[in-house]
Amino acid sequence: MSEPQVERVTIPMLQRWREEGRRVVMTTAYDSVAARIADSTVDVILVGDSVGNVCLGFENTLPVSVAMMNHHLEAVVRTKPRALLVADMPFLSFHLGAEDTIRNAGGFLLRGAAAVKLEGGAKRIDMVRALVDCEIPVMGHLGLTPQSVNVMGGFKVQGRTADEALRLLDDACRLQEAGCFALVFEGIPAELAARATESLRIPTIGIGAGSGCSGQVLVFHDVLGLTQGQRPKFVRTYAEGFRLLQDALSRWAADVRSGAFPGPQESYRLPDGLGDAIASLTPSNPT
Ligand code: KIV
Repeated sequence: MSEPQVERVTIPMLQRWREEGRRVVMTTAYDSVAARIADSTVDVILVGDSVGNVCLGFENTLPVSVAMMNHHLEAVVRTKPRALLVADMPFLSFHLGAEDTIRNAGGFLLRGAAAVKLEGGAKRIDMVRALVDCEIPVMGHLGLTPQSVNVMGGFKVQGRTADEALRLLDDACRLQEAGCFALVFEGIPAELAARATESLRIPTIGIGAGSGCSGQVLVFHDVLGLTQGQRPKFVRTYAEGFRLLQDALSRWAADVRSGAFPGPQESYRLPDGLGDAIASLTPSNPT
């Protein structure tokens, strides 16, 4: 049977939505469960390198490799999302030269991503150009770029001085000129993100960058309250997922311990009449 036709979100659509003032919704997915949930409502799914700290237990995104990203991307691709699928370029996958960058990004497209995202401004322009020249669409990422955690001295809001703000505006223009189809602004003052959005032609997607961007992105696990510990100020949580799931699992564990699970409705039965015959069987002892 053929699958129902769904209109896939495309890069030209994002551009059109920007012109129409329709806001873009983006979230992360690292596996097929999250991808299916996300695809029922968002426009863009990012297989983010945040998988490192959100799901793999690393302190930050730096240890995430291309092989890890491929593994998670493939799980998401298998769900055939209608949302635009963007794969994050992990640390050191776009720093060692054009050939290496194209091979890594091209591998994501061959696996089913529609675009890649990479962090950084002026220093990454040559790599952005190299990718765009190979028909690999690139989403830029400026501001609080988590792969620069050591340079920034922690996860700190960026663009708060005149120099930093000017650099960000300049980087945004340069990434647009290099061919980026959209930019993520993370952890920057709302006024700066709004100013940059006004001065660009391409859509901007904010995370901790105020409401003046063309769209918003939050990590799936943050929106659903699946992460533990203190959440950043810019996160709004719409469910206490961790507590809800923990509670459901502990009710099941209690039922197992009390013998209330499984009940007749979760058990298989022999056909009528065979029950008595089975009860009278004696196992043969091979020894
Ligand atoms: O990896 C990620 O999840 C991201 C988003 C927070 C933009 O880069």
